[in-house]
Amino acid sequence: MIEKLEYLLDSLATAVIVIDDKLRICYANLSAQSVLELSDNQLVGFPVSQFISHDSLSLDRLGAALKSHEGFSDSEILLAFCDGRHILADVTVTCFERNNSEGLSIEVKAIDQQKRISQESQQWAQQQAARELVRGLAHEIKNPLGGIRGAAQLLEKQLHSFELEEFTQVIIEQSDRLSNLVDRLLGPNSPPNFQWCNIHQVLEKIRTLVQLDSAYNIEIQRDYDPSIPDMKIDQDMLQQAVLNMVRNSVQVLSEQTYPGEILIKSRIKRQLTIHGVKHPLVAQIKVIDNGPGIPEEIKDTLFYPMVTGKSNGTGLGLSIAQTLIDHHRGKIDVESWPGHTEFKIYLPIDKKESTS
Ligand SMILES: Nc1ncnc2c1ncn2[C@@H]1O[C@H](COP(=O)(O)OP(=O)(O)OP(=O)(O)O)[C@@H](O)[C@H]1O
Ligand SMILES: [Mg+2]
Repeated sequence: MIEKLEYLLDSLATAVIVIDDKLRICYANLSAQSVLELSDNQLVGFPVSQFISHDSLSLDRLGAALKSHEGFSDSEILLAFCDGRHILADVTVTCFERNNSEGLSIEVKAIDQQKRISQESQQWAQQQAARELVRGLAHEIKNPLGGIRGAAQLLEKQLHSFELEEFTQVIIEQSDRLSNLVDRLLGPNSPPNFQWCNIHQVLEKIRTLVQLDSAYNIEIQRDYDPSIPDMKIDQDMLQQAVLNMVRNSVQVLSEQTYPGEILIKSRIKRQLTIHGVKHPLVAQIKVIDNGPGIPEEIKDTLFYPMVTGKSNGTGLGLSIAQTLIDHHRGKIDVESWPGHTEFKIYLPIDKKESTS
């Protein structure tokens, strides 16, 4: 019976946290663990004040509820967590008494999730349209470009003047430059090659690659969840996508006067909706830096091709990353404020068939 109850509580979309009369957590269902980004054994036995910031859900108020045996409800409160994250949520606190002990159950229902999903799918459709437009344009440029280059080469052979050859060289060089840009605009041209592998292998490769680049003296920290199973991914594509994000962090940090920090983190998320499809298990990869944050004026169009905040940027890194993650049926999310930027990649975890 107890097992059945736990199963039921774990299948709820609402986060349920039960605390005792000392305001210590004695139970957290799966949704609560997912909201707090911590596992059962990191929560149970610890004071709730360690995880939820006092000014968003006051401990005095919880204490008063215990004393008076009267619960309370609050809607649309900004619930702040001690690790700096915040969500908009409806919170209901109920008192209970069992076997002479008292406690509170806290129900947290994130209300911005639904809003975010519809906003997300609208943004995604717009980004896709922008990428298609740019890709179409790139394709149109690519064809005549090959002709121009070829013609300049032929012309060069006919010319017997060193001075005039300089001009044909300019045409060839500039065509090559444009051709490189066009190739980047067109994005990956081979279909993904999905293979079962551990995503941490890919993340470690990125860490090594970036740290070997001695131009930047930035240490990359890691915090991996070893329980993430093997996943069916295209390793090169995932590497490129994460690398584009890490490179952005490295570039922005190398311009700061304070020590830069980058953290690559992996976690498992449960019951997550990605582009309208609900997945029971999803891997989350975070790239976090302590840089100045994403410039406000490009926040809304960040993933569009050719949007850049840099004087020498092409603005393709994130748009390419998005295309690569789309191939994996995943999504990218970003949160940024001064001193903290985090990119979050979500990739559905498929079940490995027992025969393979
Ligand atoms: N971690 C970050 N911190 C602050 N700003 C960022 C971060 N990541 C991205 N940005 C901003 O987003 C913009 C777009 O990034 P994106 O990678 O798409 O293009 P880019 O870096 O400008 O050029 P490219 O990657 O093509 O060389 C960047 O120019 C930068 O202003
Ligand atoms: Mg970039």
